[in-house]
Amino acid sequence: MDLSDRTVLVAGGTSGIGRELARRFAAAGSTVAVGGRSPQALAELAAEGFGTVSVDVTDSASVAAARDTVLARYPELDTVVITSGVMLLEDLRDPAHFEAAATTIDTNLLGTIRVVDAFTPHLIQRGAGTFVTVTSGIAFLPFPPMPGYAASKAAVHAYSEALRAQLDGTGVGVVELVPPAVATAGQEKVNPHALPLDDFATEVMHLLAQDPTPHEILVQGVLAHRWAERDGTYDDLVAQRSQALAMLPGRQG
Ligand SMILES: NC(=O)c1ccc[n+]([C@@H]2O[C@H](COP(=O)([O-])OP(=O)(O)OC[C@H]3O[C@@H](n4cnc5c(N)ncnc54)[C@H](OP(=O)(O)O)[C@@H]3O)[C@@H](O)[C@H]2O)c1
Repeated sequence: MDLSDRTVLVAGGTSGIGRELARRFAAAGSTVAVGGRSPQALAELAAEGFGTVSVDVTDSASVAAARDTVLARYPELDTVVITSGVMLLEDLRDPAHFEAAATTIDTNLLGTIRVVDAFTPHLIQRGAGTFVTVTSGIAFLPFPPMPGYAASKAAVHAYSEALRAQLDGTGVGVVELVPPAVATAGQEKVNPHALPLDDFATEVMHLLAQDPTPHEILVQGVLAHRWAERDGTYDDLVAQRSQALAMLPGRQG
């Protein structure tokens, strides 16, 4: 993908990975609009020169309104990056976890589907474009403290594969970004192994720039997770990662 001449919407670009990718696309020469809920973050990004749009991906009407706003201003939009997501801990021994599970599925899975649905007619009508969905190494190797999150990301992986097959022949491609732990969203405080955001984004942009663009964007740091099942390391790694269950509030003391 030529990163210098795209017209990009980053849905969920008000912080973390999305905001950094928005800045990288802009630095490469592309035109970039950013969506999210935080008015303050949107105002700061507008001051940086980004187009901004308020969007809540859990609300179909909000997504449709954002789509209309974006396409009115950027009729040449060709790339939709969906980084919106939440990462929540859940203790499955306490049924009160359900609310977190529902929020996670609504945001990460249904939110992705809402955004894809909103822009699919436009991209098909253009005859060229790219969806970038965002999963996680956790889609391929569960992290037991975040079960709903793992399920949501495994689902977005499966959905992305089917979407790619269904859009085959339309000119619209689907790229799945599979981050490992990256030092954003509080990860930097709890996970010493989280990749610095800057290093992660540099590797991602290098991979995205390949022609043809790979179906999955896999930085070096995620390969052990992505291929654990194939490599026979899955059971050991899940057992190792299960030690993190001690971080759940109900399991302490
Ligand atoms: N950091 C990691 O270690 C890691 C690893 C693997 C995958 N990922 C995935 O990468 C993506 C970005 O994560 P991040 O680490 O950059 O986290 P982050 O800094 O918390 O960013 C999450 C983004 O999602 C947006 N968002 C959340 N709920 C939304 C909603 N209902 N509607 C619209 N936007 C919403 C937030 O914007 P507003 O609050 O302004 O709405 C924010 O821009 C997520 O999908 C995450 O699951 C992250």
